[in-house]
This record gives sequence, structure tokens and C-alpha cells, in this order.
Amino acid sequence: MKTKPYSKIAGLYDILDLPFEHFRYKPLRAKVFEGLEGGLLDAGVGTGRNFPYYPEGSNITAIDLSPAMLKRAHRRREKLGIAAQLHQMNVLDTDFPDNSFDAIVSTFLFCVLSAEHQQPALEELRRLCRPNGCIRILEYSISQKPLRRSIMKLWAPWARLAYGAEFDRNTEQYLEAAGLRLTNKKFLYKDTIKLLTIQPI
Ligand SMILES: C[S@@+](CC[C@H](N)C(=O)[O-])C[C@H]1O[C@@H](n2cnc3c(N)ncnc32)[C@H](O)[C@@H]1O
Repeated sequence: MKTKPYSKIAGLYDILDLPFEHFRYKPLRAKVFEGLEGGLLDAGVGTGRNFPYYPEGSNITAIDLSPAMLKRAHRRREKLGIAAQLHQMNVLDTDFPDNSFDAIVSTFLFCVLSAEHQQPALEELRRLCRPNGCIRILEYSISQKPLRRSIMKLWAPWARLAYGAEFDRNTEQYLEAAGLRLTNKKFLYKDTIKLLTIQPI
């Protein structure tokens, strides 16, 4: 399991990501949380970049596998005064009971999970999501436009080395086998960052 890239990069993560965060991710994060309420899980919380966008009045739980990333999230939580519970847990095998959450969000987690872990992770999210709840996944997608695709391919070795991430995980293909259905797919940034809205079948 990939805590390694994150134990190394945790101290630099926010700095390295700053231009992307500022110019690309910020407006997208707000959209991910639009209309969500109740008990909410942020799976793969990282350093807590989603904190400012958590819906007011919701009851937030956030997990991450990497202690180093969680340490940063703890600091950000104190700084922003966010009332979220943080736990070190593997998304493939959490300690929560079935149907624990009204909504589950993950941002840039599935690009980090290997192909073999995509379906088990989705199955675990399905187990945790209440029957009428929803799961929202914000993820990279490899561009279909030749120039943008080539640029992404140039970046790919760095993304793999630094973050253990791939741009072309195509998480949608595992949904049905995991007992989930796609209710909406929308590109939020060019044809490279998509928001998947998913429900238990
Ligand atoms: C690219 S970062 C994204 C962090 C954050 N969600 C964001 O949007 O900035 C991926 C995060 O997923 C975490 N992660 C990787 N594998 C995981 C697993 N099996 N269970 C839980 N978290 C995991 C990593 O430690 C890292 O913090």
C-alpha cells in the first residue's frame, strides 16, 4: 500500500501543488461539496485541502492512509477551526459500520490507487454509503485532445514518482462490479478533471 510517496512528499505537498490548487482545483472543490449534508466521509483527505469547502452543519469524518499527510491535515484543521474527525485508515478496509455516511467524497484518491485496488475501494465506499446516499469522486482523466494528451504524458513520470498517481485510472469501469451506478459524469476542468456522481445499486 502506497504510504511511501506520501511520507516523503507530505512536507512539500502543499507547496508543490500550490499553482494547481490556486489556478485549477479551488473552484472545483467547492462544486464537489455542493448540496451535500449530514454525515460525510472525505476519503483520502491528504493535507486537508477540502476543509474550507465542507458544508456548514455537516458531520465530517476524514481518513487517510499516510500519517505524514494526516499530521498536516491536523494542523490545517486547527488553523481553520474545522470540526472534522480525522482517522488513519485504509480506504480498502475501514473500521466503520455499514451505511455509516449520507455522502462520501474523494478528491484525487483513485488516481493513486492501483488498478487492482479500484474495485475493492469502491466496494468499501458502497458498504459505507447509506442506500439513498451519494458518492462523489473528483479525478483526473487523460485528455483526448492530442496536444493536451502529449503534455499529460510528459507530466506522467513525475506524477507517478512524486505521488504514485496515474492520469488514466478510468475508475468508472469498476463501478458496476462494485455494486454502484454512475448517475452523473461531468468534466469540471477541460477534458481532464471529471466529477463522478455515484449511488449504490
Ligand atoms: C493526491 S492525494 C489527494 C489528497 C486530497 N484528497 C486532495 O484533494 O488534495 C492522495 C491521498 O490519498 C491517500 N491515500 C493513498 N492510498 C490510500 C488508501 N489506500 N487509503 C486511504 N488514503 C489513501 C494518500 O496518502 C494521499 O494523502
